[in-house]
Amino acid sequence: MPNEATNRTPAVQTFNLTRVYGATIALNALNLTVNRGDLFGFIGSNGAGKTTTLRILATFLAPSAGRAEVLSHDVVKDADAVRHVIGYMPDFFGVYKDMEVTEYLDFFGACYKIPSAKREKTVKDVLELVGLSEKEGALIGALSRGMQQRLGLARVLIHDPQLLLLDEPASGLDPRARIEVMAILQELQRLGKTIIISSHILSELQTLCNRVAIIEKGKLIYTGPVQGVRDQLAGGQIYWVTVKEDSPKALELLKGRPEVAEAVPVDGQVKVTFKDHDTDPGFIAETLVRGGLKLTGLWEDELGLEEVFLRVTKGETQ
Ligand SMILES: Nc1ncnc2c1ncn2[C@@H]1O[C@H](COP(=O)(O)OP(=O)(O)OP(=O)(O)O)[C@@H](O)[C@H]1O
Ligand SMILES: [Mg+2]
Repeated sequence: MPNEATNRTPAVQTFNLTRVYGATIALNALNLTVNRGDLFGFIGSNGAGKTTTLRILATFLAPSAGRAEVLSHDVVKDADAVRHVIGYMPDFFGVYKDMEVTEYLDFFGACYKIPSAKREKTVKDVLELVGLSEKEGALIGALSRGMQQRLGLARVLIHDPQLLLLDEPASGLDPRARIEVMAILQELQRLGKTIIISSHILSELQTLCNRVAIIEKGKLIYTGPVQGVRDQLAGGQIYWVTVKEDSPKALELLKGRPEVAEAVPVDGQVKVTFKDHDTDPGFIAETLVRGGLKLTGLWEDELGLEEVFLRVTKGETQ
């Protein structure tokens, strides 16, 4: 049993983790911390470095520089110890179409040296956990995509790992299958597992994950709770303003304010983008009234999470 001190160490910690492929810097001095018990979303667009990171944590790939610890074990020096405490589900896993579900899981159980007497129950347990008990005798090739994905989850659970590294486990699934997979992950978190799940869709993980990290071009651009993403990354708030008449004058007055980054006319309204995200919009009314105009409408444009993500990953902010 790990002692108290090791229990308090993070589940995953990377220190300037770097990986290059020829001239491509896939990971650029990444410092990431995932706490025990987290259901952690690892977000980035295509080529951001998610798979590279997960493969390093899973000991399949060596870092070029920097290092990483998984449950206090160094992924290079203590690779064997790491393999015992993680379950890694790659983005594409070869499925053994001609094998039966139970046979397949039994095979992996044997790889982890689970004694045969115990294996039967273990296989039953993981199948129940992922909701595939009814398919235990089915051929893998006859399972739907969502079921195959759940079988993949069952496989990484077979040796009861503490940390799950799941590379886009919901990709290619229909909405119902997606929700099912998410529900399984929540159940696993409740059972005390730490889970890292990668995705290129931030909003998909917003209700699921307690913390997220966003990476872009191998660099960390945000880590923290999902609710913090907008505040930290969205840039200036946007407000819409309407006045009784003379929009051009409103435009001129607002452009002259130091809080305003940009004011543009859109369909008879004025769209005002602030420089910061925590500016009190009270000055808008004040400015317009002092300028002799009558304010008829003022409302905030709520940036959606996905919009924030797109702004950030396109390099429009920060
Ligand atoms: N085996 C490899 N050889 C050369 N370059 C690679 C290799 N694997 C990854 N890369 C490059 O490293 C960068 C990061 O790739 P990675 O697969 O980690 O991204 P990702 O975030 O998982 O993307 P995706 O959402 O497409 O799965 C990309 O520029 C990619 O082209
Ligand atoms: Mg990937």
